[in-house]
Amino acid sequence: MCGIVGYVGTEQAGPILLDGLERLEYRGYDSAGIAVLSNEKGLQVKKAKGRLKVLSALVDGGKAVEGSIGIGHTRWATHGQPNDVNSHPHLSEDSRIAVVHNGIIENYVEIKEYLMGKGISFRSETDTEVVAQLLAYHYRQTGDIMQAVYRMLHRIEGAYALGILCADMPDAFIAVRKDAPLLLGYGQGCSFIASDVTAIIKHTREVSYMEDGEVAVVRADSIRVYNALGRPVEKEHSFIDWDVSAAEKGGYAHFMFKEIMEQPEAVRKTIHPRLKDRRVVFEELKMSPEEIRALQRIVIVACGSSYHVGMVGKYNLERLLRRPVETMLASEFRYCDPLVDEHTLVIVISQSGETLDTMAALRQAKSLGAHILSIVNVVGSSIARESDEVLYTWAGPEIAVATTKAYSTQLVLLNMLGLYFGDILGSIPAEEYASIVEELQALPAKMEEVLENTDRIKYLASVCFNHSSIFFIGRNLDYALGLEGSLKLKEISYIHCEAYAAGELKHGTISLIEDGTLVVALCTYAPLFDKSLSNIVEVKARGADVLALTDDSHAEELRKTVPNVLTIPDTHTVFKPSLGVIPLQIFAYYMALQRGCDIDKPRNLAKSVTVE
Ligand code: F6R
Repeated sequence: MCGIVGYVGTEQAGPILLDGLERLEYRGYDSAGIAVLSNEKGLQVKKAKGRLKVLSALVDGGKAVEGSIGIGHTRWATHGQPNDVNSHPHLSEDSRIAVVHNGIIENYVEIKEYLMGKGISFRSETDTEVVAQLLAYHYRQTGDIMQAVYRMLHRIEGAYALGILCADMPDAFIAVRKDAPLLLGYGQGCSFIASDVTAIIKHTREVSYMEDGEVAVVRADSIRVYNALGRPVEKEHSFIDWDVSAAEKGGYAHFMFKEIMEQPEAVRKTIHPRLKDRRVVFEELKMSPEEIRALQRIVIVACGSSYHVGMVGKYNLERLLRRPVETMLASEFRYCDPLVDEHTLVIVISQSGETLDTMAALRQAKSLGAHILSIVNVVGSSIARESDEVLYTWAGPEIAVATTKAYSTQLVLLNMLGLYFGDILGSIPAEEYASIVEELQALPAKMEEVLENTDRIKYLASVCFNHSSIFFIGRNLDYALGLEGSLKLKEISYIHCEAYAAGELKHGTISLIEDGTLVVALCTYAPLFDKSLSNIVEVKARGADVLALTDDSHAEELRKTVPNVLTIPDTHTVFKPSLGVIPLQIFAYYMALQRGCDIDKPRNLAKSVTVE
């Protein structure tokens, strides 16, 4: 939520900041702004409500702002409406200090009242402005900007990544991080900060990740980092192994469609290094076989689509391991006094690795003694760094707000973990293990086959897009799949839709079914095909229009009851959701396209949810 970028070097900062913000816009897009410092013009702040293009027009793509040092921000509003005044950067009263912020200052009201009591007046409704004002207040007291930063940090509570520009320090800006992502970029004669590497990958692939409590002084030729006590810290540098093209649309109309199409390759990359001699191996795992055998319970925690991966995982891992597996929403786990201990493996799933609720759940589980294994896409992210073990999905950058390829790579990795643990526990019969591995190897090609059906799905979307209420129904793995299909559709098309376990319909929901209600019936889970068919008959009898999804083996039978049937190739049960999700993603995409929605940046949403 909210994107930050900063640049200091010899080139004009404005265009570089605007370009970086464009790549960060997926993190928040209700307003944007930049602050740039130059000897002649001093500290200039330009900001505007609306998409980045509004700001870009205001400053001629950044060219209208003089100076080679600056910070920028793209906002997802938390405190105060999205308007020009509440946009970042925020200035101190004397306009000598500009601040951009990602996160929430929890005690901002108290600080604001304190500063107002000192006669300082505020312009905005935001929590961020208190940072600028408090900093300026301490700067006036101490005459030393670094001392002022540490005093300010001592006072504020909450989560923050901050970029700070001070008119009295024309060659450097300051960066601070606590519980919100921020990385440092090392260029040739220039330096950067960014919430996400996509913002600066064009300029450098050499980065380091800030830790909580660290303060960085960023100059063109050096970046000095200090810990919470003000002592210098040596940062380890990492090299990003993908290039700028991975974060561009490459001819596709939307990132979401590009990312849907990238799924077979992303899954291939996730599988390949972990499959040796037809066995799943995780060289990156530190857990010993004895530790795996000693596990009594697995708890999966995540949010949103990552939680839906966990829902599939509950069915598949329990089946493969014969151990209890529970999947919980991270936001619920935090507050339910969870029963986890040193005999529990907590699997944390997150694309961004920065989701605040997931992060908080991780920390809580850790404090209770659980072993934490995370499945993460963003290398070096907070969740990855705080986990005992991390398995990267290697999906490459995911830019569309609605996740697709991250979901698919998380899912395949979780299934592979099930195979790996099952091998050690001896809970999977040898013949079944071999047949699952065979299907695992075939999965990317089968995903490609599903993608070939795009035109048919597009046609179905063109006849369905006017529905205002849609129900997804399915049993077992199909229920978990329906949760994801329904989320995908509602978040990008704004159509009200819900996913139900098909067996639950008759306990209340069926009263909502009337003439013309669209029901998407998922029937890929073969053991319960007949029961799902009965549910289809029940909703049809109440007037529902049904769109069904099944595998090749069951298509003919299903067509006797439902005219509109989408199919996926036959595969092992555990991989049905991996294939089944693709038509649902494509359906959501074309439904949203038909309705003229902003597919990559749906309203009210942002990628990387770093607020509670
Ligand atoms: C939906 C979507 C979100 C995320 C959720 C968790 O398409 O992308 O529901 O899955 O916000 O995000 P991560 O996986 O980054 O923790």
